[in-house]
Amino acid sequence: MKYKVMLCEGNRLMLGRLANVISATPDFKLVAKYQDYQEALGQGKVFNPNLILLDVESISASNTIQDFCDAYPNASIICLSEHWRADSASHLIQAGAKGYLLKPFTSDELIDAVETFAKGGMETVSHTMCFFSPKGKSGKTTLIANLALALARMTGEKVGIIDADLQFGDMAVFFNLNPQSTIVEATRDTNFLSPVSLGNYFMPVTQNVSVLCGTKDPSLIDSVAIDALESVVTMAKSLFRYILIDVPPGFNPTSISMAEMADTTYIVVMKNDAFEMKHMRRAIEIFKDWPDVEQRLKPIFTRVMPCNERSLYQLQEQLDFPVEGILPNEYMLVSSAADNGRMALDILPDSKLSMSIELIADKILTRRRS
Ligand SMILES: Nc1ncnc2c1ncn2[C@@H]1O[C@H](COP(=O)(O)OP(=O)(O)OP(=O)(O)O)[C@@H](O)[C@H]1O
Ligand SMILES: [Mg+2]
Repeated sequence: MKYKVMLCEGNRLMLGRLANVISATPDFKLVAKYQDYQEALGQGKVFNPNLILLDVESISASNTIQDFCDAYPNASIICLSEHWRADSASHLIQAGAKGYLLKPFTSDELIDAVETFAKGGMETVSHTMCFFSPKGKSGKTTLIANLALALARMTGEKVGIIDADLQFGDMAVFFNLNPQSTIVEATRDTNFLSPVSLGNYFMPVTQNVSVLCGTKDPSLIDSVAIDALESVVTMAKSLFRYILIDVPPGFNPTSISMAEMADTTYIVVMKNDAFEMKHMRRAIEIFKDWPDVEQRLKPIFTRVMPCNERSLYQLQEQLDFPVEGILPNEYMLVSSAADNGRMALDILPDSKLSMSIELIADKILTRRRS
């Protein structure tokens, strides 16, 4: 038996119900169950559990978790409650819990929870990035897809992409995915989800990169409520170290709300006519309300030729604002990669495009370390 489980649940009926599920789950053995926490703290030790499932609804959770951590230093604690609340989840994690699971749960949900949290616990320090463009066809989806792969490869950590370009999101097409569930289902179900179950709505594209795909039909936009989208992003912070959000072009409720939530917002503009500088300036102007705008807002130009230090410097001078990165014009590479559902970074890792994207990833990592 991999897991020797101690279950603490204040409600007697729920205790029985959950006990049955645990006993019926392969690799899980229920070694003790308690309705009373003091008894669990005192008497449970003889059973030497390595996994404690702790109902946190009816107790002063942080202190109790601390007591359980002290009494069972070799066990992982997973909190149980009927609704997921981001604010309390982060307190519980700080107090020493490994994860959070909604009850009642099924055997599959229990296995998923333990596997997810065993891989490193809930992330409490995830970094959220929103990719904004004043107009469409800026190259932002291409950038996000490749940057996500670069971050995962450079760190070995979990990266989540959320396609919140609600009407015309095409991240699924980029990765050649045929998703069973999309942002429509995730936002619809948000009240019933915990971070672990949200993970099932993401489609894996590599070992460490997963995508929550956009709507399958533009008319479904009305079924995605902004507040539900915000809870999905908050929940995703428990699953991924890096979250990259694709938003619809222009200022609209979705792009504004996602930019407000993100730690960093990238403004992506493609250099192809004389107006790009004007659009970039206007967009920056609108974000200038943020007191920390220079830290939070990062302009990126795509299709810059020649793509070198000098061009970056010139763009910066013209803009009078720090430019985070530039990507070269590599249409053939980008489109042949996308046609195969693969990314430029995979096909030609030594290309100028891949290197430019890695430079942007490197800046993200450097800032995180400082
Ligand atoms: N660095 C690049 N060099 C040349 N072409 C590029 C580059 N990046 C993207 N493209 C091309 O530009 C077009 C738009 O790219 P992409 O879909 O990434 O932009 P977007 O801003 O997400 O567009 P949309 O508004 O449709 O969501 C695509 O045809 C893509 O192949
Ligand atoms: Mg796009």
